Amino acid sequence: MTTGAPANDPVNEPLELPSSRYLYQYASVRGPNDRTLKLTSEYLSGVLPNMPQLPCDLPEDPDDLEAWFTAAVAQTHARYADYLQARKSGAPRHYFSNRAHAMYFLRALAPTKLVDGAWLYGLAAKWKNPIYHGLLRTYLEELGEGDESKNHVLLYRKLLAAHGAEQWQDLPEAFYIQGAIQLALGFQAEQFLPEVVGFNLGYEQLPLHLLITAYELNELGIDPYYFTLHVTVDNADSGHARRAVDAVQEVLPLLGDRAAFWQRVRNGYMLNELGMGTVATIRSFEIEREVHEIFTRKSIGGHGAHSDYCKIAGRTVNDWLSAPEQVPYFLDALKRAGWIVPGPDVQQSRFWGLLQGDKAQMFGVFNAYELQMIHDWIRGPASVDGMPYTWTQDQPAPGPDAAPFRQPTFRAMQRQQPAVGVQGDVVDADTQTLTEHLATLPGKEAMTHYLASVISPLHHWKPAGLAATKLFSQYAFS
Ligand SMILES: [Fe+2]
Repeated sequence: MTTGAPANDPVNEPLELPSSRYLYQYASVRGPNDRTLKLTSEYLSGVLPNMPQLPCDLPEDPDDLEAWFTAAVAQTHARYADYLQARKSGAPRHYFSNRAHAMYFLRALAPTKLVDGAWLYGLAAKWKNPIYHGLLRTYLEELGEGDESKNHVLLYRKLLAAHGAEQWQDLPEAFYIQGAIQLALGFQAEQFLPEVVGFNLGYEQLPLHLLITAYELNELGIDPYYFTLHVTVDNADSGHARRAVDAVQEVLPLLGDRAAFWQRVRNGYMLNELGMGTVATIRSFEIEREVHEIFTRKSIGGHGAHSDYCKIAGRTVNDWLSAPEQVPYFLDALKRAGWIVPGPDVQQSRFWGLLQGDKAQMFGVFNAYELQMIHDWIRGPASVDGMPYTWTQDQPAPGPDAAPFRQPTFRAMQRQQPAVGVQGDVVDADTQTLTEHLATLPGKEAMTHYLASVISPLHHWKPAGLAATKLFSQYAFS
């Protein structure tokens, strides 16, 4: 497993394992076939032996879990209160330097968030055993209990689409580790049940970064609902966080080896520490590198597509774009030739006028995500105001006499939007097969068993999966 982290970091020590990206891409498309089961078993068996060597903040004795939980909640609330106080006193955002930074974060989290809840999928097949009902209810709530407006994966897909960030598949290996772990646990609940319970305990606690992320996204005019939803569903009183603690107590054996089981729960808990966490992801943002990558990707399709009459520093655009490694020099040449003028007003850059606006000759070449990245790169420190790249189209450019741009919060913008109707019924091949197959089954038990397979991370966010989740939610507990 290659993570890009220092080689002496025991969390990320390279192992002879299938790459996280490969496992993720294979398992999330092919589902729990023999190869997936082999890959996921090997993956977890390879990673887990390292976990006991990592510093773990869980108590040694599971009887102390309640006190640990209460203290952790109190600490998160106290630190969030400090954050709010600091912001009220004029401190800058702690996480997102500009709008592009927030969009980078949303895209970098895509592999993890698009399998949200997957680690609990294996509990669906155990629906008859009441000791797993708490965890199963958590899984079904991750799936919105079949309501498309509450399905966490669908919500995240919509969030990515709203910002042109659907293309994330070329993210580095480290960004796939958490998603690969989640899928692997979901397909290996039989072999790794204590680890599933432990991972869930760690993942479902309300972290400080979730509260700050939601606050700062809203401030930047970006829909924070996916994150605020998790603040509410993970609540300490009755939500997933509380239930995760209760689940440990419910599954800890009374007849078997309690201490060995608890150690395995701790190992599963520590899996949350692998790969890129939220704060590490936020800190990994470098706008210059992102802009270079965007132009490198474009150069592959763009070289040869330009006319030769325009030259930058004596060379044609086609020539500049003929080798991706020239991108940084090309961007520097554009600056020196005055095509790009770093500063608060992007309209001063003729190059920006080619990308965006009524007469933009390259309109449509760059998507919303890429335009915001280039926009904030050109604006530099001024981009701290969170201005969307579209803002400059119809409104006076910011200048010395103009009022400073003020980004309205997402909630303020939402109050001005008309209500949108709900999409009508959707029929597709899988929905039809689901309906037809259910009609052939002899009774509720057989149907619940079949539905448990349909609500997997592969399907649950699609129309057939949503319909199956609704039915499963009714049948499994009655
Ligand atoms: Fe979730």
